[in-house]
Amino acid sequence: MLWSIEDLKGKKVGEIVSSDIRTADVFKDFGIDFCCRGERLLGEVCKVKGIELKSILQSLEEAMRDTKGPVHDYQNWSVSFLIDFINNTHHPYVRSSLPILLQYGEKVYNAHGSAHEETFEVLQILQYFEDELLKHLKLEEEVDFIILKKLIQDNSSSSKTLVTQSKKILQNLQDDHVAVGDKMLRLERITNNFIPPADACNTFKVFYKKLSEFRDDLFNHIHLENNILFQKISNYIQSNY
Ligand SMILES: [Fe+2]
Ligand SMILES: [Fe+2]
Repeated sequence: MLWSIEDLKGKKVGEIVSSDIRTADVFKDFGIDFCCRGERLLGEVCKVKGIELKSILQSLEEAMRDTKGPVHDYQNWSVSFLIDFINNTHHPYVRSSLPILLQYGEKVYNAHGSAHEETFEVLQILQYFEDELLKHLKLEEEVDFIILKKLIQDNSSSSKTLVTQSKKILQNLQDDHVAVGDKMLRLERITNNFIPPADACNTFKVFYKKLSEFRDDLFNHIHLENNILFQKISNYIQSNY
C-alpha cells in the first residue's frame, strides 16, 4: 500500500498528482479539480463531495501500477527545462487545436443548434478560449516565463525587484488559470461530460471526443504550471530571499 487512509486525508490533491502524473485520471474520473484548485486537502474535498477515501485510494493504487506509456519525472526537471517543455508541447497543442475545435463547433451548432441549444454556449466558450487563453500563452512565453527564468538564473541577492515581479506574475497567472478552469468546468457540465446525445451524427461525436482530449491536455498543462513549476519558484524565493 502506498498511503494509509490517514496519510491520504492530509495530502493536497495537486501534491498527489505532482508525485505521479498517472493519478490525474483518477481525480478526473471522480470530478476532483487537481490543477486550478490543487491546493485543497483530499480529505476535505472528499467530505464535501461525499466520496469515500477508500475507493479513491484503490483507484490511485491501480493508476500507479499502470505501466503503459512514458511517465515524465517532472519534479526533477529544472525550472528552465519545465518552461521549455510547456512552451514546446502544451502551447503549440492549444494553438493548433482551437481553430479545429471552432470549425467543428460551428458545424455542429449549424446542424444541431435547434435541437441542442447547449451547442451555442459550447461555441461561445471556445471563442472565449481563443481570445483569453491565447493571450495568456503569449504573455507567458514573451514576458512572464522569461522573467521567471531570469529570477532562477540570477545569483545576486540584489534583485528584489525581480522577486516582487515574480510573485505578482505567479498570482496573476494562477488567477487566469482559475478563470479558464471555471470555463472548462462549465463546458463539462453543459456537454454532460462530453457524452454526445443519442441523435448525434459522426461529426458531433468526433467534436466531443476532441473537446475531451483538449480538456485533458489543458488540465495537465495547468497542473504542470500551478503545482510543479510555480511551486518550484515559490520554494526558490522562500529559501533564497
Ligand atoms: Fe501555459
Ligand atoms: Fe498558464
